[in-house]
Amino acid sequence: MKIKNAQFIISAVSSEQYPSGNLPEIALAGRSNVGKSSFINTLIGRKSLARTSSKPGKTQTLNFYLINDQFYFVDVPGYGYAKVSKKQRESWGKMIEKYLMERPQLKGVVIIVDLRHPPTEDDRLMYDFLKHYQIPVLIIATKADKIPRGKWNKHLNIVKETLNLSPSDPIVLFSSEKGIGKEEAWRELEKWIGE
Ligand code: GTP
Ligand code: MG
Repeated sequence: MKIKNAQFIISAVSSEQYPSGNLPEIALAGRSNVGKSSFINTLIGRKSLARTSSKPGKTQTLNFYLINDQFYFVDVPGYGYAKVSKKQRESWGKMIEKYLMERPQLKGVVIIVDLRHPPTEDDRLMYDFLKHYQIPVLIIATKADKIPRGKWNKHLNIVKETLNLSPSDPIVLFSSEKGIGKEEAWRELEKWIGE
């Protein structure tokens, strides 16, 4: 996809703040610090439109980015972030769950996992949750630059097995650092946007 423009629209904590209109939305899910915001930046070719950080817990609200006046990327707080109170975590959980279940504009969710490690229990819960609600899923196995090429397939298989990934769900090996998998990821997302 050719990116003509990309702009931050709103940081939302509740549904009244979500953008109005009917443009398709694609949400990012994944554990804290896995590289969700970096994924958005890499796809749109902008270094820091979505704020990233080496410290987990950077993204704390639902952040809507309008791309080409055509669709939104929705950056979501990561799960498994220990340094917030239980109460705070529960309220994020509810906000995200409500968004995922009740948003007609949502066309699909990108689950970002770290290629280096087997998906966590939270990753599996997220995958199962999305399957249960029949929300389309794309798995991105990122940080591939941290693993020698010869081991990519072995790690990809571990990701598939741990998630018990359905053969019909796409999975793309990715690196925000090196731009690996960018074209393939776009091809999958374009199916949701209807390009
Ligand atoms: P939260 O907003 O805290 O949930 O984190 P996030 O999932 O948005 O992660 P973010 O994109 O902020 O990236 C976290 C850290 O991982 C940053 O230091 C990034 O530079 C680094 N990172 C992200 N993607 C890659 C990648 O593909 N390769 C490498 N080597 N580092 C990456
Ligand atoms: Mg983030």
